[in-house]
Amino acid sequence: MEKNECIDINQRGVELVARLYDSCKRILVTGGAGFLGSHLIDKLLKQGHEVLCVDNLFTGTKRNIEHLNADPRFEFIRHDVTFPLYLEVDEIYNLACPASPIHYQHDPVQTTKTSVHGAINMLGLAKRLKCRILQASTSEVYGDPAIHPQTEGYWGNVNPIGHRSCYDEGKRCAETLFFDYNRQHGLEIKVARIFNTYGLACIPLTGE
Ligand SMILES: NC(=O)c1ccc[n+]([C@@H]2O[C@H](COP(=O)([O-])OP(=O)(O)OC[C@H]3O[C@@H](n4cnc5c(N)ncnc54)[C@H](O)[C@@H]3O)[C@@H](O)[C@H]2O)c1
Repeated sequence: MEKNECIDINQRGVELVARLYDSCKRILVTGGAGFLGSHLIDKLLKQGHEVLCVDNLFTGTKRNIEHLNADPRFEFIRHDVTFPLYLEVDEIYNLACPASPIHYQHDPVQTTKTSVHGAINMLGLAKRLKCRILQASTSEVYGDPAIHPQTEGYWGNVNPIGHRSCYDEGKRCAETLFFDYNRQHGLEIKVARIFNTYGLACIPLTGE
């Protein structure tokens, strides 16, 4: 093998490793021990990423993620997102929040704090890291909608002082924060308004 050819092969190897490294991200999933979060983590790990799961286990359970304990690319941190968190990641999926009426009405003040303080803490982290962040929002931002089906342009019909307001208004405020971080700080954001979803690992008797 000629010297130049050897350099060329080494260079191609370095480029290949760099490309693989670039496509493998370190991703933070809050609420990762819950129903949707645990499925999302399965998918991200299958795609080759490293995943940090942050959850306070209020409605989530270690059972949803125990099959991942042996995976060196998976890490669990027990933490409440209403408190700041300093980590190094490339992307954030913010799913932490009780989703069913029984659970979010159990401690409504904590529910609002989880949506609002949780969003502030995760957006602050994303701003520091200059990384993309996704918010798991909800169709409940439309409240008791006056139009069916709801389009994204519809602003909703929401009671700000009812028993469900901690969830609906908390999620609305989180959306506001996401869009203001985008306009004010140029942060790359995604907001997904999820409609009722169920499946394996869903908590039974959720009061939906
Ligand atoms: N499942 C649905 O039908 C649905 C519909 C609309 C929106 N969403 C949203 O999707 C996300 C996930 O919902 P899910 O159905 O998986 O619910 P889930 O209750 O199974 O999961 C929520 C997770 O967040 C964790 N969590 C709650 N408060 C926390 C806090 N303060 N700090 C850290 N972790 C906390 C819980 O322990 C749990 O693991 C939620 O944000 C929810 O609002 C879900």
